[in-house]
Amino acid sequence: MTVKNICCIGAGYVGGPTCSVIANQCHDIRVTVVDINPERIAQWNSDLLPIYEPGLDEIVFSRRNKNLFFSTDVETAIKEADLIFISVNTPTKTCGEGKGRAADMRYVEESARTIATTATSSKIVVEKSTVPVKAAESISKVLVANQKDGVSFEVLSNPEFLAEGTAVENLVNADRVLIGHNETPTGRAAFRELRDIYMRWIPKERIIGMKTWSSELSKLASNAFLAQRISSINSLTALCEVTGADVSEVAYAIGHDRRIGPNFLEASVGFGGSCFQKDILNLVYMCERLSLREVAAYWQQVVDMNEYQKERFTKKIIETMFHSVSDKSLAIYGFSFKKNTGDTRESPSICVCKRLLDEGANLNIYDPKVMDKQLISDLNRVTCNQEKVKRLVKICRDPYSAAKNSHAIVICTEWDEFKKLKYEDIFKSMKKPAYIFDGRKILDHDYLSRIGYEVYTIDTIR
Ligand code: NAD
Ligand code: UGA
Repeated sequence: MTVKNICCIGAGYVGGPTCSVIANQCHDIRVTVVDINPERIAQWNSDLLPIYEPGLDEIVFSRRNKNLFFSTDVETAIKEADLIFISVNTPTKTCGEGKGRAADMRYVEESARTIATTATSSKIVVEKSTVPVKAAESISKVLVANQKDGVSFEVLSNPEFLAEGTAVENLVNADRVLIGHNETPTGRAAFRELRDIYMRWIPKERIIGMKTWSSELSKLASNAFLAQRISSINSLTALCEVTGADVSEVAYAIGHDRRIGPNFLEASVGFGGSCFQKDILNLVYMCERLSLREVAAYWQQVVDMNEYQKERFTKKIIETMFHSVSDKSLAIYGFSFKKNTGDTRESPSICVCKRLLDEGANLNIYDPKVMDKQLISDLNRVTCNQEKVKRLVKICRDPYSAAKNSHAIVICTEWDEFKKLKYEDIFKSMKKPAYIFDGRKILDHDYLSRIGYEVYTIDTIR
């Protein structure tokens, strides 16, 4: 078989960009991305895509309705496909066994059931979602138990490593592509089919075949390692604060050791995003279930340190502003969990805003990409108090109006535009003393101090 028709179940941050890039690289393959959410599919078919990713619009607009389709007709797309990606969400469970830690596999299972009951020909089923180790076994079980006569399935693991904000670049120029497969002739044949698709644009040596369980664990481990670096450097910010060391200098020094390397050492108010915390908690839960208590405790600490960092930053804002922010106005710069995305899932900005709202602060929030509806729903969810959010939160269209008449600016996201603002003008429009709390350490603090600001950052908040 040569794959001519691909279906992707789940038109989210992974399914959408991944399949758009595949369609763009392989004009002879028909790629259909399906979702049960009609609103999301309508957005993928409109001029305003549901997610913001640099370079994505161009690709979607050039391939859409040629060999790239977005549809709610899940069944037809499954029937026509040779290969099916399962790219649905796997959030942390919110109730039942493993609540707050285990991955909720219900959407993956539902997808497997739909595939099994719909497929009228054999398929390669590719687990693209991030899942617990051995999830492929459960998927296979569901598929085999429900398959029709003459239909067979081969399950591959092909985790995704893209980061939001750089998704297209990461997909086009991937460091590596993992394909986990069964050590059987059909497993190896399915591996070759998927490898041949990626080989159209990824060098062969970067496409790594391995055992299915290794591939599943490698994904969780990669995220755990990345998050661990951030928690490690963030733990040092607290130490810098009391010793007078500068965390940027420390990161620069240790990153110059080639064995350590310079990436993922930027101290911050804490990491966010839909995956780091979820995947580490998933890893911790798996270890606990396997009675590996010490291993579980080790990784749990990465999440705990992140909570500590977010709390420490907000506490210091309140302490610095004479132990009270009640009735004061604070300009919040950035609400997304990182720059170049409108995604707010697990954004540290949400925690900072919640704490400040608890203290009765008025918040003027500006973010260049986050939708108003999303921002309000995030704050309503965490405060459980819509009336308070309505009374205290103002969404601003630009950073200047957000800062006007405010007592402080709080940088929560590292958007490049925050580095280029006219801080002299902003200073004149603010109440005095005018504070800046730089939760990303992205501004020129000497320059801001010369203007007259009281400047505090992650490692110098005292
Ligand atoms: P998402 O929530 O943006 O998208 C998932 C989509 O799947 C939703 O639109 C939902 O409606 C749809 N869906 C759920 N059940 C369905 C079903 N039965 N049939 C059809 N559609 C269904 O999630 P995401 O951010 O794209 O993440 C997907 C997976 O990829 C997760 O496991 C995540 O951990 C992993 N991942 C995410 C990223 C990232 O940057 N967001 C990166 C790497 C891996
Ligand atoms: C992360 C990984 O980088 C991807 O490889 C992975 O595929 C993805 O998770 C996933 O599985 O979902 P993402 O969460 O999109 O990607 O973004 P990152 O660039 O990793 O940033 C995560 C968080 O860490 C952000 O809040 C960011 O601001 C923060 N961060 C990052 C730091 O605080 N310091 C750093 O040095 C780097």
